[in-house]
Amino acid sequence: MKGLILAAGRGTRLRPLTHTRPKPVIRVAGRPILHYAVENLKEAGVEEIGVVVSPETEKDIREALSGREVRYVLQEEPQGLAHAVAVARDFLGDSPFVLYLGDNLFQKGIRRFLEAFRPGVSAVIALVRVEDPRQFGVAVLEGERIVRLLEKPKEPPSDLAVAGVYVFTPEVFEVIRELKPSARGEYEITDAIQGLIDRGRKVVGVEVEGWWKDTGRPKDLLDANRLLLEELSPKVEGEVLESELTGRVVVEKGARVVKSTVIGPAFIGEGVVVEEAYIGPFTSLGPGVRVVRSEVEYSILEDHARLENVALRLQESILGVGAEVRSRNSLPRAHRLILGDLSQVELA
Ligand code: G1P
Repeated sequence: MKGLILAAGRGTRLRPLTHTRPKPVIRVAGRPILHYAVENLKEAGVEEIGVVVSPETEKDIREALSGREVRYVLQEEPQGLAHAVAVARDFLGDSPFVLYLGDNLFQKGIRRFLEAFRPGVSAVIALVRVEDPRQFGVAVLEGERIVRLLEKPKEPPSDLAVAGVYVFTPEVFEVIRELKPSARGEYEITDAIQGLIDRGRKVVGVEVEGWWKDTGRPKDLLDANRLLLEELSPKVEGEVLESELTGRVVVEKGARVVKSTVIGPAFIGEGVVVEEAYIGPFTSLGPGVRVVRSEVEYSILEDHARLENVALRLQESILGVGAEVRSRNSLPRAHRLILGDLSQVELA
């Protein structure tokens, strides 16, 4: 069994964070989203892993996965998930494989989907009940069998959304070869699976156990961060001086927490400086972040972001790499903003 992680997408719904970096390298609970995918595959016994990247995402994805043994496959054009699979044909060969969308998180891993893959089954699809299925692939089940699959239907025939893990036999390549682009101009994996069903093949749906998150929008990232932090094991390797740490808190090596209050679950990454500050529940601070004389909770601060001398507490916020929020001491008392395209600021 091989594994194929897709990490070539543009992550448009996460702009401006994804203007400069691909979505799967964004950190949740201190680690790039992609690390969880690789770990879930390994934990399920998948040793040979390929990662599909695009010319735009390749550099960052390679950096995030450095030291991990994976093969890279380049998808030159963003032509859809089924196209990405076709591009990886040489890597996959004639092996059955798990297709794993690089922005998906599964609390309980992916073992159960591989277990459902047995002789006579052409594909296993992870399914999850959601309130609004219109933004996902949607399945119609009869017993364990999927009898119909639709991509982002306006009128969903069920509440069973397609989660981002699929197990296939190499037979899927034959169907992909005959696919036509969808209305949005992409070769959809959903259409390929429908193709298998139309050929009378057995496609099995297996419901996700525990929580599942597709990190498509900013609010999903914050939610994923919360869910992962809920499972944090406390660990203090950095320096903590005249501070109070309550609940599950990780302080990584090289971090300094001085004259501050931290209420977990919270993750404080390598080399972070927290000084005269309040770090509240469900907050993750990436490597090199500085929080000085400020308060923050339910937020993600990415690598080297800074929050300094800000009077009002930051909440439900995401600061990208190197982003800075600080107050100025000089007159006039006014907001001064330098925001990248599609940035969002909500002032209290
Ligand atoms: C993709 C699939 C969709 C699936 C979703 C899960 O959509 O096309 O069927 O439900 O991933 O994350 P995307 O998020 O690429 O729009």
